[in-house]
Amino acid sequence: MTIELNSPLDMHLHLRDKEMLSVVAPLTSHSFAGALIMPNLIPPVDTKEALLAYRDRILDATQGDIFKPYMTLFFRDSYDYDFLKNFGNELTAIKLYPAGITTNSESGVSGFDIKKLAPTLEAMSELGLPLCIHGETNGFVMDREAEFVPIYTKLATAFPKLKIMMEHITTKESVDALDKHENLYATITLHHLLITLDDVAGGMLRPHLFCKPIAKRPIDREALLNVALNAHPKVMFGSDSAPHPKHAKESCGCAAGVFTAPLALAKLTEIFMERSSVANLQKFVSDNAREIYGITPPVKKVVLEDTPMNVPLNYGEVVPMYAGESISWSIKTIEK
Ligand code: NCD
Ligand code: ZN
Ligand code: ZN
Repeated sequence: MTIELNSPLDMHLHLRDKEMLSVVAPLTSHSFAGALIMPNLIPPVDTKEALLAYRDRILDATQGDIFKPYMTLFFRDSYDYDFLKNFGNELTAIKLYPAGITTNSESGVSGFDIKKLAPTLEAMSELGLPLCIHGETNGFVMDREAEFVPIYTKLATAFPKLKIMMEHITTKESVDALDKHENLYATITLHHLLITLDDVAGGMLRPHLFCKPIAKRPIDREALLNVALNAHPKVMFGSDSAPHPKHAKESCGCAAGVFTAPLALAKLTEIFMERSSVANLQKFVSDNAREIYGITPPVKKVVLEDTPMNVPLNYGEVVPMYAGESISWSIKTIEK
C-alpha cells in the first residue's frame, strides 16, 4: 500500500548552524518542500543581514534539494514598520520567546507589557506578518502553557488583525483556545502526539524525550490527537525538531529538544493510518499551513509505503527519536 503527500511542510523547525546545520538540513530538505525556520541561534537572527545570510547557509546545506526555507526573525519590541517592510517576502513570521523560557531565548521578552510590545505588533498587523509564540509562563512546569492562555487571549483581542501562532501546543487548554479567537492558530509536534510525561520521566529518565514544553497528561495528548487527526483547519504540523549533540542530552543538565526530522513523515503516516485518519494527513502536513500562512510551497510529491523504516542510532552527533527502533511506514519515492 502507498500514500501520497504533496509538498509536505514543517512549520516549526530548528536547523542550527555550522556543522550541525550541514547534518540536519538535508534530513528535512530531502522529504519536505519547505519549513518555517526558527531564529534562536547564538546570537539570535534579528537583522535583515543575518536573516539573508542564514537563509543562504541553509540553502547551501540542503544540497540542491527542492526546499523553501520560510525565514523568521527573533522578536524585539524595537522593530518598527519601515524596518519590517524592508524584508519584503524574505520574512515569513516573527518568533516571540519569553526571556529564558527555552533554548537560546535569554534575550526574549520579559514581563509581557502589552503596551511596550504594541508598536511592533501593530506594524506586524499592518504588514500581515504572523506572530509565532513559545507560550509558557515561568510558573510550575506542568502549568506553564495553560497559564499562558490568558496572554494569548489578551493579544488576540488587542490585535484582531494579527495572526497568532501558538507554537508546539501540548495542552487541552490551548486546543480549546483555538476556537475562541478567530486569529489564533497552532502548530503541533510529532512527539506531543505520541508521548506523555510518563514516557519522559515515569520510569528511567529518557533525556532524548525531554523538551519544552514538557509532554503533558494523556487527556492533553488526546486533545492534540483529536484536532490533528481531524485536520482542524487552524492546526498545522510543526515538528519542533530540535537537535542537540548527544553529550548535551546525555548529561547532568540535559538540553531541551527532541530530534524527529528524519522520521517525521513516516511516523505521522503510521499514526494517521493506525487511527483511520490518513485522508486528513495532507491537510495537517501541508494544506492547512498553505492556507493559514498564504504560502505556495514548491511542488514535491512524496510517496510512502508500508515497508518498515529502521531508525539509525544517530545522525552525526544527534540521537533521533526512535533510535534503533522501527517504524511501519517509510518513504518510497520523492518526485519534483
Ligand atoms: C527548542 C530548541 O532546542 O531550540 N527546544 C525545545 O525543547 N523545544 C526550543 C523551543 O522550540 O522551545
Ligand atoms: Zn519553543
Ligand atoms: Zn522550537
